[in-house]
Amino acid sequence: MIELSGITKSFGTLQVLKGIDLLIGKGEIVSIVGPSGAGKTTLLQIMGTLDKADAGTVILNGTEVNRLKEKELSAFRNQQIGFVFQFHQLLPEFTALENVMIPAFISGASSGDAMKRAKETLDFLGLAERASHKPAELSGGEKQRVAVARALINSPAVILADEPSGSLDTRNKEELHQLFFDLRDKLGQTFVIVTHDETLAKLTDRTIHMVDGRISIDR
Ligand SMILES: Nc1ncnc2c1ncn2[C@@H]1O[C@H](COP(=O)(O)OP(=O)(O)OP(=O)(O)O)[C@@H](O)[C@H]1O
Ligand SMILES: [Mg+2]
Repeated sequence: MIELSGITKSFGTLQVLKGIDLLIGKGEIVSIVGPSGAGKTTLLQIMGTLDKADAGTVILNGTEVNRLKEKELSAFRNQQIGFVFQFHQLLPEFTALENVMIPAFISGASSGDAMKRAKETLDFLGLAERASHKPAELSGGEKQRVAVARALINSPAVILADEPSGSLDTRNKEELHQLFFDLRDKLGQTFVIVTHDETLAKLTDRTIHMVDGRISIDR
């Protein structure tokens, strides 16, 4: 599902990724751990086509993304990849429902269809009652679940999450982690999760340890 080979990336004179090879299968839940500055976020951004590697190839769901033109790449990202960040990054002036609808709109869905799917997704995540709330009117755990709903609306093959539970308390954290496993079981999604949370890393199928721009352990 995700194939990275020979990925390198520098910012100025600083080489942040020093040759990453990685194969992730469909339905796998993989965690990426490692010290601050190891290159985890950079790797996730490259995997998610939000940033470009200096060298190497990224193949997602059979498509070599380096070959796509800018427009094709945006469409590909919108269809195939869902992102969840540490801080929800919901738009404050829109309701939960509207926030979830946005990626559907971008993909060309009609407003009726976008609304129907957004409602179903919020419902699925136990947020039906919160659909008309704006982010400021939601708890931290609810905001993260709305962000997950937004990531899910176009049924992407891959969900990439960067410290998704980093801002949550223990209970909300556990609920969010459980949700990832439920989604994989029900929808077969592939997850790559950057985390500092050891409990989560232990639960995942596989943990990739990064140190100084390289993968040090993968098991
Ligand atoms: N856009 C950028 N320009 C310059 N340097 C950058 C940029 N993005 C990241 N870096 C540097 O690259 C290195 C790796 O950053 P990255 O964000 O990938 O680390 P990380 O493993 O995610 O760390 P953390 O656990 O703190 O989030 C760091 O030294 C960082 O300062
Ligand atoms: Mg990071």
